[in-house]
Amino acid sequence: MRIITFETSDALAVQCADIFAELLRSAGAPVLGLATGASPVPTYKELIRRYKAGEISFRNATTFNLDEYCELPKNDKNSYFSFMHEQLFDHVDIKEENVHILNGNAPDLKAEAQSYEARIRSAGGIDLQLLGIGTNGHIGFNEPDNKFTKETFVVELAQSTVKSNSIYFTDGAMPKHAITMGIGTIMAARKIVLIATGRSKAAAIRKTVLGDVTPACPASILQFHPDVTLLLDEAAASQI
Ligand code: GLP
Repeated sequence: MRIITFETSDALAVQCADIFAELLRSAGAPVLGLATGASPVPTYKELIRRYKAGEISFRNATTFNLDEYCELPKNDKNSYFSFMHEQLFDHVDIKEENVHILNGNAPDLKAEAQSYEARIRSAGGIDLQLLGIGTNGHIGFNEPDNKFTKETFVVELAQSTVKSNSIYFTDGAMPKHAITMGIGTIMAARKIVLIATGRSKAAAIRKTVLGDVTPACPASILQFHPDVTLLLDEAAASQI
C-alpha cells in the first residue's frame, strides 16, 4: 500500500487527477471505476478543469460506477446517476453509451448484477478504480460482514451508513438497500486509489492500513491488492 498525506483536500485532488490524467493520456481505451460521496468531488472538479483547459479527454473512456441505491428513481437528486452527471459527466466529453451505472430499479436485480459483471469483463476489466471509504470501513456499499463478497450484489445498508447518508435525504426516507460491486469486483481492478478526508475517517483508515484483513472492515482487503494508493488528508491519517 502506498500512502500519501496532504495538507489540503485541493492538493489531494490534484494528485488524484494526475493519476487519472496519466491513464486517460496513455491508454487507448481507458476503463475507469468511479465513486460517489463527498470525497471525490474535488477530484472531479479538477478533472473538469483539465478537460476544459484541453489537457485531457474522456472521449475514449468507459466508466463503471461502484454502486447505486435501490428503489430510488434514476433522476432523484440523491441517485448516484444524478450525482455522477452533475459532478462529472455533464461537463466532459464522455460518451453516454460508455457510462455504466447500476440500475437500482431493475425488475430483476440479480440479472442486473450479472449483466454488470459481464459488461465489466467485456470492457476488458477496470484499469483504475477510485474509492471512498465509509466510517465503518465500507467500500462501494460492501458493509462490514462475516465474509467478503465476490461479485455485484444487492445489499442491506448498515445502520451507520443509513445514519451517515440520510443527511442528504431531506425530502424523504433514505433507501435501505443498494446494489454494489462486490469486493471481488473491486479487487480485480488493476489499480486502486482510495481517497479519505476528515477525522471521521481516521479509525476506518487505521483498521484498513494496520488492522487484520477482515470482512469486519471491508477496506482491509486492500492490503492484499498489489497496486493500491491511499490519498489522505492529515485528519484522516491521524491514527496511522
Ligand atoms: C457512500 C458510498 C461510498 C463512499 C462512502 C463515503 O456510502 N457508497 O462509495 O465511499 O459513502 O462517502 P463520503 O465520501 O461522502 O464520506
